[in-house]
Amino acid sequence: MTLEIIVLAAGQGTRMKSHLPKVLHPVGGKPMLMHVLDSAASLSPEKIHVVTGFRSEEIQNSVAHYAPDYLSTIAWVHQEKQLGTGHAVMQAMPAVNPNAHCLILYGDVPLVDRQVLSAIAKLDASLVLLTSKPEDCEGMGRILRDEENRVTGIIEQKDASDAQKQIEEINTGIMMCKGRDLSNWLNHLGNNNSQGEYYLTDVVEMAVFDQKPVEAVVAADSARFAGVNSKLDLATAERTYQKSQAVELMNGGVTLLDPDRIDIRGNASFGQDCCVDVNVILEGEVSIGSGVVIEPNCIIRNSQIGDYTRILANTLIEDAVVGQRCQIGPFARLRPDTKLLDEVRIGNFVEIKNSEFGNSSKANHLAYVGDSSVGSNVNIGAGVITCNYDGANKHKTTIGDDVFVGSDSQLVAPVTIESGATIGAGATITKNVQKNDLAISRAKQVAIKNWERPKKK
Ligand code: UD1
Ligand code: CA
Repeated sequence: MTLEIIVLAAGQGTRMKSHLPKVLHPVGGKPMLMHVLDSAASLSPEKIHVVTGFRSEEIQNSVAHYAPDYLSTIAWVHQEKQLGTGHAVMQAMPAVNPNAHCLILYGDVPLVDRQVLSAIAKLDASLVLLTSKPEDCEGMGRILRDEENRVTGIIEQKDASDAQKQIEEINTGIMMCKGRDLSNWLNHLGNNNSQGEYYLTDVVEMAVFDQKPVEAVVAADSARFAGVNSKLDLATAERTYQKSQAVELMNGGVTLLDPDRIDIRGNASFGQDCCVDVNVILEGEVSIGSGVVIEPNCIIRNSQIGDYTRILANTLIEDAVVGQRCQIGPFARLRPDTKLLDEVRIGNFVEIKNSEFGNSSKANHLAYVGDSSVGSNVNIGAGVITCNYDGANKHKTTIGDDVFVGSDSQLVAPVTIESGATIGAGATITKNVQKNDLAISRAKQVAIKNWERPKKK
């Protein structure tokens, strides 16, 4: 059986009150449409027809950015005017194989459970409809059934009578038909309804009229098939998604002190025996070793954290590689291209950018280290700054092994401090410091005896 998938993504999504096409609004840091395409691709269809209309180019660029691999399976379909979901599917039909099973997905139903989809894709009815029974049915199409509980049609909320609005089973939007049947039904679609739109949902009544076998599958987990029409729906989808990721992490052995207070916007992997406190955000590709502790309010983006490292509260780590048994934070900031080897300690209000630290080196308080190479066993005192920028260009600071940089020193790059050297507190270092030397640069202290402070006149 050949499977082709049609994804509807042409609408603007007026209820989102945004310039961004609705299907590009992110859930878990990724456009809703990408979630749908990931699910579609997981079924290995022959083709994925994506119907776009409102800002098509933006949507195509977004897909090319997030999933260039999909482009070869995608057939783009343009729907000039958004005249309804039925009209959208009609635009795709000329390119659909009449003998294929044709699964329709909505770009604004992002969290579909792939197991349910693949079960549906295997059914052999003329029309398979996926329904659900959410607590709140507001705005959704309701499923009409006869006395024998057979599906007879779908009524949109805007066209429903008060009695029909009481129906608790809704249309998720997901439907599968044989290509030839679908084309036939769509050719007879009208728009005589309260919105003047060509409703895809009307094909159900036609299938029933044609006495074709219609099968309705009720999804157990309605949250996974919730449509997103408003910012409130988007927030609800985000929570559903985050909760499912948190559950997955816990199933994998990660301790989450509160599964409702972790957000993963990308892919995060963990080793064994990790513990994550509340309000932690992991973005992009994050790989965390074993025995790692992450304290509250940390953000880790596109980074790797080695085994048994502790990330203390309120730390921001971005595009960095952190070794094993390090301690970072509280209130530390590792900026892009930071590489810390093992047992490094970075303390509060320390910022590091494009720099490497060797084993067991420390910068425990209030420092800025940028464009630097720091050896092992180096101690960077409080208030040390690498002056890496002259207003036009960036310059490098090189610090050898076992160097001690006294507090409140400035290292004016380009500059090299050779191994074993000591920088006295308060120094402004503009020249290279040789191996094992002590460099001091400070005015001699003078004492003025019995100094009288000025008095207020
Ligand atoms: C639709 C269903 C409703 C179902 C609900 C589930 C119809 C008529 N109604 O309503 O029964 O309960 O989804 O979430 O199908 N789109 C196009 N072109 C168009 C119109 C829409 O591509 O001309 C796309 C939209 O971009 C969106 C999807 O189709 O991704 C659904 O459209 P939307 O207007 O949100 O339909 P609902 O009112 O939610
Ligand atoms: Ca919708």
